[in-house]
Amino acid sequence: MHIINARLRNQEGLHELNLENGLISSIARQIEAPTLGPGDLDAGGNLVVPPFVEPHIHLDATLTAGEPRWNMSGTLFEGIECWGERKATITQEDTKARARKTIQALAAHGIQHVRTHVDVTDPELTALKAMLEVREESRHLVDLQIVAFPQEGIESYHNGRELMEEAIRMGADVVGGIPHFEYTRDQGVSSVKFLMDLAERSGCLVDVHCDETDDPQSRFLEVLAEEARSRGMGSRVTASHTTAMGSYDNAYCAKLFRLLGHSGISFVSCPTESIHLQGRFDNFPKRRGVTRVNELLEAGMNVCFGQDSIVDPWYPLGNGNILRVLEAGLHICHMLGYRNLQSALDLVTDNSARAMNLGERYGLERGRPANLLILSAESDYEVIRSQGLPLYSVRNGEVLMKRTMPVVEFSDLS
Ligand code: FE2
Repeated sequence: MHIINARLRNQEGLHELNLENGLISSIARQIEAPTLGPGDLDAGGNLVVPPFVEPHIHLDATLTAGEPRWNMSGTLFEGIECWGERKATITQEDTKARARKTIQALAAHGIQHVRTHVDVTDPELTALKAMLEVREESRHLVDLQIVAFPQEGIESYHNGRELMEEAIRMGADVVGGIPHFEYTRDQGVSSVKFLMDLAERSGCLVDVHCDETDDPQSRFLEVLAEEARSRGMGSRVTASHTTAMGSYDNAYCAKLFRLLGHSGISFVSCPTESIHLQGRFDNFPKRRGVTRVNELLEAGMNVCFGQDSIVDPWYPLGNGNILRVLEAGLHICHMLGYRNLQSALDLVTDNSARAMNLGERYGLERGRPANLLILSAESDYEVIRSQGLPLYSVRNGEVLMKRTMPVVEFSDLS
């Protein structure tokens, strides 16, 4: 396949790309107007980018909002109650059907790489068994990383350590954690040491739900970062949420940022979910309850955005469109400055790929997999401003999805 009239981020002029045998065989600056052969695609001067990445979602809980009842307050705690009731009824088939439907929605929005957290605080590991099958059955749509996620704690849940070890033995790719949810600070610290040991032993990546609270005393990020730094594992470790950082004072943050920089860990922020669930104990003024996204980026750290939930007890909205989360996140994090707008797509492409350790399996370079999107606008700024979408998603050199944008016609009423 030949793609012509492609605009590439941070490069002048138009380019043409050749895709052969599932790989990108060449990318070259376009000198003269090329002819379009059968099966070729004309990007029409629009951006061509590597696929969008979803670095943080819970596919085992997706599409369960309203089952068995709706979260009326919209709070995290009522969400946990609703999920407790729904979780008692999950089956492998039910989990697989919902996950498959959501993966289709993600793929329809240009996402080809997904990291899903899967609740392993279940003696039967039902959701994990289902998601391991979905990972294989969905390879034509997405590359899926599965996080062994202890929703109810590692130390605070019966046999929590054994369930984590079993989940990794069964084939989970990433070790998760939730230290701020453990009963005590000591348990939180020991859970982080345990999960880092497990990751080091097994060679797995790490992604911890870390300090997902407005409590400024929730300080497990420093524990995770120091474990990553001292073990030399920073590039394999991600801290998700870290919303407490939005409530840390600047004196503590100044010290923390030094450690974070040395650790080299990545961050995932889920701004739509956090703005909805955090700040719930405040009257006014009310905190935003998101981590310091722009400040981390300016300090040279790797940060990306995720959706977290789609239509589950914690978050009733979502349709798979990560650009919706990007636009909201830019607002929520005070990132509508022009420089932020010019590089906005980093937050849902390259930065997320780095957090997921995709390495040479990702990116528009010769020899890499022929996975890419043709977007509906010519720059990061225009994609955001026009609420653009992918027009084509190409995977392994084949068109996976194509979209026709709606056309608006006015009647002549003059
Ligand atoms: Fe999450």
